[in-house]
Amino acid sequence: MPNVNSRRRFLQTAGVAAITGLGATSMYAQNTKNKIVGVSCSPRKGKTTATAVQIALDAAAAVNSNIETEMIDLGGKTVYGWTPPDRKISDDFESILPALKSPDLTGIIIGTPVYFRNMSSLCAAFLERLTILRKPQLLLADKAVGVLSVGGYRNGGQEMAIQQIHTAMLCHEVMIVGGKPGAHQGATLWNAYEDDITKDEFGIESAKKLGTRVAEAVLSLNT
Ligand SMILES: Cc1cc2nc3c(=O)[nH]c(=O)nc-3n(C[C@H](O)[C@H](O)[C@H](O)COP(=O)(O)O)c2cc1C
Repeated sequence: MPNVNSRRRFLQTAGVAAITGLGATSMYAQNTKNKIVGVSCSPRKGKTTATAVQIALDAAAAVNSNIETEMIDLGGKTVYGWTPPDRKISDDFESILPALKSPDLTGIIIGTPVYFRNMSSLCAAFLERLTILRKPQLLLADKAVGVLSVGGYRNGGQEMAIQQIHTAMLCHEVMIVGGKPGAHQGATLWNAYEDDITKDEFGIESAKKLGTRVAEAVLSLNT
């Protein structure tokens, strides 16, 4: 029995089908891709947060062949926080917007390093800029969103940083999900091995549990 999401997607595709003359069933079948975008919000490109997000995405992709993933590493990119429209700014945010506006987008995994028990300022800036996806329409509504964080201390504030991102994303009417049991809040990683996050076995397991759970949520919301 299709749920609200799948009915919504069906109606969208049926509308296109009516215009193009294609049968709605075939359009529906073509439009069942599920895209999960991972966003790493560490200023350090390719470091522990990016590795953890990629591991979560790989676990998500392993759940079902209908799941596509895309990685956005904000490391090395410039993203300013929200700025009044009359002040023209130029940064890299526009280049990442298409992935977030993709009609196939059904899930997002956000990763942040823990900075002073909080998310990074790059992550806060990224979240502020998502304002553009709220009006006139809540474009991220009903997307499954899971979060991970990497701290330099074992108990460095990972869960607090995750919770802050959850709270911000609730403003988009997203479906917040945690990870599979053992990673209830999301994935919590410890950068204790000189940037080789793969040595944090517990943390890596939690990243996989997060990716798996986001994939499961995406499938249950959209089939
Ligand atoms: C400004 C700053 C503040 C930090 N504050 C914390 C903290 O409160 N708790 C913690 O566990 N780690 C803290 N760290 C360590 C980082 O979270 C950790 O090194 C993380 O792996 C960095 O992610 P990255 O490898 O993706 O850059 C801090 C690092 C910086 C640069």
